[in-house]
Amino acid sequence: MNLRDGYILVTGGAGYIGSHTIVALMQKGYDRIVSLDNYLNSRPRTYDLIEAITGRRPEIIEASVGDRKTVAHLMRRFEPVGIIHFAALKAVGESMEQPYRYLQNNLADMQVFLEEVYRTARPLFIFSSSCTVYGEVTNLPVYEQTPRQPAQSVYGLTKQLGEDLLDGLCRLGFTGPVVALRYFNPVGAYPDGRLGEWPLGTPNNLVPLICQTAAGLRPFLTIHGKDYPTRDGTCIRDYVHVMDIAEAHVQALEYADRYRPQTMEIFNLGTGHGVSVLEAIRAFEEVNNLKLPYKIGPRRVGDVTAVYSDSTKAERLLGWKPRFNLHDMMRSAWLWQQRLNQEAL
Ligand code: UFG
Repeated sequence: MNLRDGYILVTGGAGYIGSHTIVALMQKGYDRIVSLDNYLNSRPRTYDLIEAITGRRPEIIEASVGDRKTVAHLMRRFEPVGIIHFAALKAVGESMEQPYRYLQNNLADMQVFLEEVYRTARPLFIFSSSCTVYGEVTNLPVYEQTPRQPAQSVYGLTKQLGEDLLDGLCRLGFTGPVVALRYFNPVGAYPDGRLGEWPLGTPNNLVPLICQTAAGLRPFLTIHGKDYPTRDGTCIRDYVHVMDIAEAHVQALEYADRYRPQTMEIFNLGTGHGVSVLEAIRAFEEVNNLKLPYKIGPRRVGDVTAVYSDSTKAERLLGWKPRFNLHDMMRSAWLWQQRLNQEAL
């Protein structure tokens, strides 16, 4: 069956990467999409924004992936040919304060979800993973086969164990094809600013905090440490545009469908360029013609000094190549923030 003729189930479809991925799917001709989300850290109004861009809405189911009856029902009703599993909590600091909440959401609920998904079917499965699984790496760039180090946070632990669970089940023949995508630092928004990251509560990632500071919602940005052994003393990350990440999911689905790997296939998704916190701030200031007030603060617990990707595997096997650069990321992030301000969305 042609992939486009079946349903694609997106868990966490109202979340940051989930919503952009629904847009990317629709723009590539995937019209049958079901979003399963319980709005733990997202809002149903996100579907209006998706519709404003694509002219369409997905089918919407409000429930947790750990809601056995609902998952069983939707598997019967839609018989998805592919599943993209985003639904998870993702705040590193919070995961250390509420470790069991993270284990419950990201692992226990996922186990229930997998049981219901694979009860009668073998859909393609794309798992949202993270470069956080590598832990404190010493050799850069990071390749897929770079050995994972002990997790630095409970969030990281849930991603490591999530990967292990899927890989093990896949090897033992309990799943269909599985792909894990390890995102580096997804940032930015839909290029014209009509969709972006819209979490509940206070953001804790750099780019949303830069945007809130530029919008005057915070007096200044705190740089977490300027005494790292890097070119300017601040941490280095591999920022990658959320629409590039979104499009990689479509390519991963098509890859899994075409090649049907027998073991879980892992791909790094980053640009391969390390960018320091100060460089990120400068790029934001340049492209948006703004001055950002910032102060240097102490190091943040759990931060690694530097991490950036080698993504040649994704390029070679998925045909994935990031289209957007750091300026595009910062421009779109600011457009989205302005939209949030103006419309009090
Ligand atoms: N930073 C600041 N000031 C801030 C916020 C962040 O200087 O106010 C710095 C951090 O110290 C870090 C860089 O900006 O050096 C990026 O920090 P983020 O919080 O944006 O992202 P992380 O690199 O910490 O990434 C983590 C996990 C990912 C996860 C991501 C999103 O490693 O797996 O958060 O939650 F996906």
